[in-house]
Amino acid sequence: MLNHPALYDTNKTYEQNIQNGPPFLHKKQKIKTRKKIKQVTHFGMRLNSSFGISAGPLFHSQFVKLAFELGFDINVYKTQRSVSFKSNSFPNILPLNIKGNLSFTQANHGIKVREKFPDEISQLSITNSFGNPSHGPEFWVPDLSKALLSEQKGQLLIMSVVGTLQDKFNAEDYFKDFAYTASLAHKTGVKAIEINLSCPNVKGEGILCFNIEAVENICKKVKNVLGNTPLIIKLGYFDTSQNELLENLLSKITPYIHAISAINTLPAKIITRTGENAFPNDHGTTSGVCGRSIQWAGLSMVKKLQRIRKNNMYDFSIIGIGGVLTEDDYILYRTSGADIVQSATGAIWDPELAYKIWKKTNYDS
Ligand SMILES: Cc1cc2nc3c(=O)[nH]c(=O)nc-3n(C[C@H](O)[C@H](O)[C@H](O)COP(=O)(O)O)c2cc1C
Repeated sequence: MLNHPALYDTNKTYEQNIQNGPPFLHKKQKIKTRKKIKQVTHFGMRLNSSFGISAGPLFHSQFVKLAFELGFDINVYKTQRSVSFKSNSFPNILPLNIKGNLSFTQANHGIKVREKFPDEISQLSITNSFGNPSHGPEFWVPDLSKALLSEQKGQLLIMSVVGTLQDKFNAEDYFKDFAYTASLAHKTGVKAIEINLSCPNVKGEGILCFNIEAVENICKKVKNVLGNTPLIIKLGYFDTSQNELLENLLSKITPYIHAISAINTLPAKIITRTGENAFPNDHGTTSGVCGRSIQWAGLSMVKKLQRIRKNNMYDFSIIGIGGVLTEDDYILYRTSGADIVQSATGAIWDPELAYKIWKKTNYDS
């Protein structure tokens, strides 16, 4: 099963995946439906659960529709831009050979790819490197409107956007582009918007979330455009030496945000089994690691965010992400302080993940 993911064909290019839609649809697999649903409240809305798919696996409206049908209730449309932007070249997803937790020494030294995906989903660690591609607003704005039509009662679609560093842009132009892209999404009537401040896969753009001034500036500009529509920010992992940075960042931005999603992938050097770069040169020097080996980092961020929220009486919601591959992983995140939990890798490989979580918890936890 692990060599045939439901939401992405790793043997095909990004463009082929966009054109073909989710592999699940070509398998004629039956969708298991939940019976009794206990609703919960998030962002002031009554929703069917606290679980869904984070930004990434839902490339367009066909993927979004399938995700809702599969019982994933709080889903994010893959990050889009104000201009069209090419994907990094093939391959874009590779299986990794990591035993246990990913360490920063390993990440700097080089993680080896493995030949095949493992047999057990609970052991799955992958790297993905797309570079935040976008077909531009001409494609995604009407497609987002279409995707919104597949939201059923108790389900929420969030739109993820990012600014694009364009020719002759200074920093201010770049930050304004976040707000402009958010405004394009906002006009569709989408009920919440996430800004991606933590993608490690774009050559030249860098990870913004560690720059307090930049994040504060972007949040203010985006909030201005959104008014009362909830703004979510997507952060990367802050290590122990960055605890103060995280506290300072939150003290500046909490007036503007409704929720924090954490974490994005962890950047690492990815090498072949013989030690060469595993990705072609256009991918840059690092690629994002996701799945089992980064779960420790996702949980650690959730706990830190919860502690800071409690100590300062902030009221943002915490969306816990990173290595949620099974029902037990979902429970672990909820008991660690996540209000909402999302999965990318787990959802790509297991179309029944939301159903299994419902079955195990009936969403009591
Ligand atoms: C195929 C793929 C594409 C992704 N694309 C995005 C993206 O466009 N925007 C974003 O904020 N995160 C993106 N991510 C990161 C995920 O949302 C998530 O933060 C990360 O993969 C960790 O979760 P996981 O262990 O469940 O995969 C992507 C992840 C994967 C696997």
